[in-house]
Amino acid sequence: MFDLTPRAVDITADTYDWRLTNSLVNESEICGRRKEKEELLKILLTNDDDLPIYAIWGMGGFGKTTFTQLVYNEEKFKQQFGLRIWVCVSTDFDLRRLTRAIMEPIDGAPCDLQELVPLLQRLQQKLTGKKFLLVLDDVWKDYTDRWSKLKEVLRCGAEGSAVIVTTRNEMVARRMAATFVQPMGRLSEEDSLHLFQQLAFGMRKKEEWVHLEAIGV
Ligand SMILES: Nc1ncnc2c1ncn2[C@@H]1O[C@H](COP(=O)(O)OP(=O)(O)OP(=O)(O)O)[C@@H](O)[C@H]1O
Ligand SMILES: [Mg+2]
Repeated sequence: MFDLTPRAVDITADTYDWRLTNSLVNESEICGRRKEKEELLKILLTNDDDLPIYAIWGMGGFGKTTFTQLVYNEEKFKQQFGLRIWVCVSTDFDLRRLTRAIMEPIDGAPCDLQELVPLLQRLQQKLTGKKFLLVLDDVWKDYTDRWSKLKEVLRCGAEGSAVIVTTRNEMVARRMAATFVQPMGRLSEEDSLHLFQQLAFGMRKKEEWVHLEAIGV
């Protein structure tokens, strides 16, 4: 009746593109999270673990990526880490792709190597002696073997290098980061209200909407 024709759609590719994140954030639009940011800065800047891996987990939309963007763009971090790299992992924990994605910002160009071993060796050369902050955002699954291989290479960075992982899955967080595993806390009442007002009323003057507060309560 509607003249519909069935056709194959690659749902995974579509979902993946849609979920891609990057390190850019407009700090003035972020509500709260300052206290959590200071706590994380303190841990990462004073830690003397070989390679501290800090995992943040929590349900979708809770603000894990936003919080990590806030931390990533913190001035103190920019000064401390000569190299900061943001990789969106999402559903695709493919070691070749991840190794290339970590290497590309260092080289400023795509990497032409295809095989995994040469790729990992090249990454090791690039990271040796460098102090880096690596974000692996939105990890969906725990691939212990793949992660162990990558982690071994990451350990060749200079002392003080660190990794931040974000994931919805607590188990993934615990497996990837044995020491620092943090559930993403909720925003305070005040920050939540502020965020709601920002989204609901945008640039409107307070006089225009303040009478609605009584209805909400
Ligand atoms: N503290 C905040 N202040 C203002 N907006 C926020 C804050 N935290 C999150 N948001 C907004 O909420 C939305 C979801 O946040 P975010 O993508 O960080 O969640 P997430 O926990 O990473 O979700 P997912 O598990 O789907 O990756 C985004 O549009 C983001 O801009
Ligand atoms: Mg996210």
